[in-house]
Amino acid sequence: TAPYAATAEPTDPLSGPRLARVAQQYGTPAWVYDADRIRAQIARLRSFDVIRFAQKACSNTHILRLMRTEGVLVDAVSLGEIERALTAGYQVQGADEPVVFTADLLDRATLRRVVELRLPVNAGSPQMLEQLGAASPGHPVWLRINPGFGHGHSRKTNTGGEQSKHGIWHEHLGQSLELVDRYGLELIGLHMHIGSGVDYGHLEAVCETMVKQVRLSDRDVRAISAGGGLTVPYHPGRPEVDTERYFRLWDSARQELVRELGHPVRLEIEPGRFLVAGSGALVSEVRAQKPVGSNHFVLVDAGFNDLMRPAMYGSSHRVSVLAPGGEARTEAVRDTVLAGPLCESGDVFTQAEGGDVEPIPLPRAEIGDLVVFHDTGAYGASMSSNYNSRPLLPEVLVDGGQAKLIRRRQTVAELLALETEVA
Ligand code: LLP
Repeated sequence: TAPYAATAEPTDPLSGPRLARVAQQYGTPAWVYDADRIRAQIARLRSFDVIRFAQKACSNTHILRLMRTEGVLVDAVSLGEIERALTAGYQVQGADEPVVFTADLLDRATLRRVVELRLPVNAGSPQMLEQLGAASPGHPVWLRINPGFGHGHSRKTNTGGEQSKHGIWHEHLGQSLELVDRYGLELIGLHMHIGSGVDYGHLEAVCETMVKQVRLSDRDVRAISAGGGLTVPYHPGRPEVDTERYFRLWDSARQELVRELGHPVRLEIEPGRFLVAGSGALVSEVRAQKPVGSNHFVLVDAGFNDLMRPAMYGSSHRVSVLAPGGEARTEAVRDTVLAGPLCESGDVFTQAEGGDVEPIPLPRAEIGDLVVFHDTGAYGASMSSNYNSRPLLPEVLVDGGQAKLIRRRQTVAELLALETEVA
């Protein structure tokens, strides 16, 4: 059998027949999410005091509502994400700071809104502290520290070290604390996120650096945040994150601080991908195929404007080919290049980080078959664009056996409205 065949049980929300029904009802391409898979991932992180969802991974308000119902708090990185959190019913004020705004700068509109809401700000630059402090003395803040090193599944998802624009450089902790004092800002805690796809070696180093930075700060912090970065096995045979080991490492750092400070210290974790990646699938339809020299291309109706990760990072997703009724195709496996409809050579789902095509073994597909990109619940829909004037796709959430449309397909008229309204 093909390594990329769908293996899910028919009752599975992401089984072939279920995905085929969604395709029939809502058309392709479409995003599908499984609520129970999200809940199962949340359960794996319950040891942490606070699970704060990095909503940039999947910011649909219905997904945020599910998170809120499960007791998960939320991070916002833009004005739009703040409004999404509010729409999903998150309160701004609350003991654990239900919503935190994390960024490296405050644009003027967002500054006005965080001041108005008195929304805790996780500051990634000294200027954020100055601008916030001047506008809102006493405002609650976290300091996001760049510990001087980072790690990621790609250069582009490494968020620490000298090549990273993120966070307050660790040597500038002192000057940042001076700003905290100058404006009487209320320091909640320190935060570190060194990248997506972190390994245990780097994790130990971050934990150690966190303890050192809190010590150096000489402040009575009441919380620390481990950031996100926990990965998922995108392909069979890849390891699952050992969440207990992850927790133990952070918890011992926290315990050390508790001993030194003499009071409880809240331990937060801020995952995006881990909570939602495995819950999502992108369903597309095969519309053309052609031999190109030695390569066999299969073209589907989804493009990199929909699923950007392969073009952006050379990421590869597990793929299945389904007959229109949802049965997995398994016959006549051959090396195949999967590509989309965009007028751009990089619109290829099977490519290396440098851009060369990387054929993968796939069963023979007929026109009208479905190609499913698995584990695309994180940084799938949320990174989509309107490039080539293509409308955003519908999103469907399957919960309790029911498939519910949680975002309808954008129309071309809606795309054009922004321009025709000013004509
Ligand atoms: N916290 C902060 C401050 C972050 O910047 C991020 C991700 C996260 C948490 C969540 O990271 P996660 O747990 O999802 O790895 N588009 C890329 C990932 C970029 C992540 C940016 N920041 C991808 O598709 O792999």
